Order: sequence, then C-alpha cells, then structure tokens
Amino acid sequence: MTNEKTTSQATQSLPEGSTRLAGKTAVITGGASGMGRSTALRFLIEGANVVVADFNQITGAALMQEAENLGFAGRLVFVATDVALERDVEAALALAVDTYGQLDIVFNNAGVGGAIGPLTETTTASWDYTMDVLAKGVFLGIKHAARLMRDQGRGGSIINTASIAALSGDAGPLVYSAAKAAVVSMTKSAAVELAPDRIRVNAICPGFIATPLADGGKPEKTREIFSRSQPWPEYGQGDHIAGAALFFASDDSIFVTGDALVVDGGLTAAGPELSRKMPRTSGRNSKFAGITKGSTGEAPELKTL
Ligand SMILES: NC(=O)c1ccc[n+]([C@@H]2O[C@H](COP(=O)([O-])OP(=O)(O)OC[C@H]3O[C@@H](n4cnc5c(N)ncnc54)[C@H](O)[C@@H]3O)[C@@H](O)[C@H]2O)c1
Repeated sequence: MTNEKTTSQATQSLPEGSTRLAGKTAVITGGASGMGRSTALRFLIEGANVVVADFNQITGAALMQEAENLGFAGRLVFVATDVALERDVEAALALAVDTYGQLDIVFNNAGVGGAIGPLTETTTASWDYTMDVLAKGVFLGIKHAARLMRDQGRGGSIINTASIAALSGDAGPLVYSAAKAAVVSMTKSAAVELAPDRIRVNAICPGFIATPLADGGKPEKTREIFSRSQPWPEYGQGDHIAGAALFFASDDSIFVTGDALVVDGGLTAAGPELSRKMPRTSGRNSKFAGITKGSTGEAPELKTL
C-alpha cells in the first residue's frame, strides 16, 4: 500500500511515512460516508486502527472494500450501529478494545439533517428523532468512551461533530441547530470533568461541506454553490474536517480541550457581510478610502479609488 493510491486530495499531499496515530485505535461514528469516511481513511494512513460504527451497512461494506484495496485489511472494522441506542454505542466501543486491545480516540460524528420545515410544523416525533441521533448519540459516545478510557488509565481524545448551526440563528433548521448547540455545550462540560483523567474533549464546527448529507443527490450543483458560499474560494470537503479531526486526535493538541473549532472557510467570520451589502464603503471593492467622522460636523477625509 502506498499513500498515493488514496483518492482524497488531503491524503495525496501527506508526507511519506506520516504516522501521527501509529499504534492508536479510533472509533468513528458515521464513518461510512462524508467527513467521517474521509477521517477514517486519514486515520488509517496515519497509522491508526479504526472501527467505523454506522447505521448504513451498504456504504459500510463499500468502505471496507476500499480500505482493503488500499492495503488496510485488518486495520478497519465496520459495525452496524444506531448511535441513538445505548447498547449499540457501548458495543461499538467495546469492539475496538476487543479487536485492537485499546481505545484512544472516539469521533462522535454520525448525523442526519433531521427535522426540517417551519417550527410551527415541527412535530415532537421529528424533534425526538433529531435529538436522539445528534445530541443523545454524542452524549452516549462521550459517556462510554470516558468509562473505557478512564479504566485504561492513559487518557484519550474524544472529538464531537457540532456545526456552525450551533453558533447563529439561520445556519440550519431549528432542531438541528439546537442539537448542535447541545454538542458544543456537552463538549465543554465533559472537557472539564474528564481533564483530571487526561481525556480531552473537543468539537468541530463544520461550515458547508459537500458531503452526501448536504448535496441532496446533486454533488456537482452543491459544489458549485458551496464554492461561493464563504470567503474561501473553494468548497468545503470531508478532507478539511479530517484534518481538524487528526489535529484533535494526535498529540499535537495535547493541551487543547473544551474547544469548538470552526472549520468553515471564513463563513462565520464574514458575519453580517457589510462589504457585500454596502460595497461602496467597506471591504476590498470599496470605492473610497480615508476617514469618516460621523456626526461630528467635520468633513470626511476621503480619496476615491
Ligand atoms: N455536510 C455539512 O455541511 C455539515 C455541516 C456541519 C455539520 N455536519 C455534521 O457532520 C456530521 C457528518 O455529516 P456528513 O456531512 O459527513 O454526512 P453524511 O450523510 O455523508 O454522513 C453521515 C453518516 O452518519 C450515519 N448515521 C446517520 N444516522 C446514524 C445513526 N443513528 N447511527 C449511526 N450512524 C448514523 C449515516 O449513515 C452516514 O454514514 C454530522 O453530524 C452532520 O450533522 C455536516
């Protein structure tokens, strides 16, 4: 197996012999698709053993095949899992210990869009489904990872996928956003509680990432839209999230816990987008430069560009 065989862009540029996770074992929920899948492949390349715990057995089998083709046979296990069920989460994490003898990294990443539509049309059933997968699923992953890691006595890294939807009012459907805000909150609480055990807990807040979840079966169209959805000129990819997950998984982040890292190509940094809404006076396309003096009665000092 050589790194060059990998199809993902981020992994193509990895240095030969880069093995930041050598000897570690990771569990990745939702690892059969999208950013979880990118992360599974990245972790394998970095030397980890990986357990992918996902609801979808078809995409899980396809990932197993790809891993085998890439020369990772024996270092990737797939287990059908519903993260909303405690017994499934517990079993998936225990499988990592049974198979590879240890558990070092848990990436609680499985997700769905869940409840959509106006809040006035949102049912309690759709609320429950969304919260069960996105919030309870992460809680269960943290809980059982913490138990196993604490018993091992040598720390660990728990990574949770939140979203920029947790951070503002119009970046996702209401229930989804509430669930992701819960993920950020749980990340901070768990980080504080587990720090004495040297178990780090961090979250990733992705922006618009072109994955099957986001593309609605139209990847080309989505990539085109996502390319102009944030200040950064290229669309977000699963590999961009895999890079952040690798940072949190590796000892490079040994003093980082309780963080919620935004990975969004500057989308949230853009905020109210004044330079787009008032382009004559603000930002790189401004027609003027100089000093305005508000209501002082003094004249502005401006030059035309
Ligand atoms: N794509 C984006 O733009 C974006 C942005 C912010 C956050 N996220 C979050 O990133 C995470 C990964 O999403 P993605 O975009 O890679 O989506 P994806 O659909 O490509 O992958 C999600 C995976 O989660 C699995 N899954 C869903 N429900 C599950 C359950 N109950 N138990 C186990 N597995 C389950 C799916 O089968 C799938 O393989 C999710 O938590 C999502 O909310 C995505």
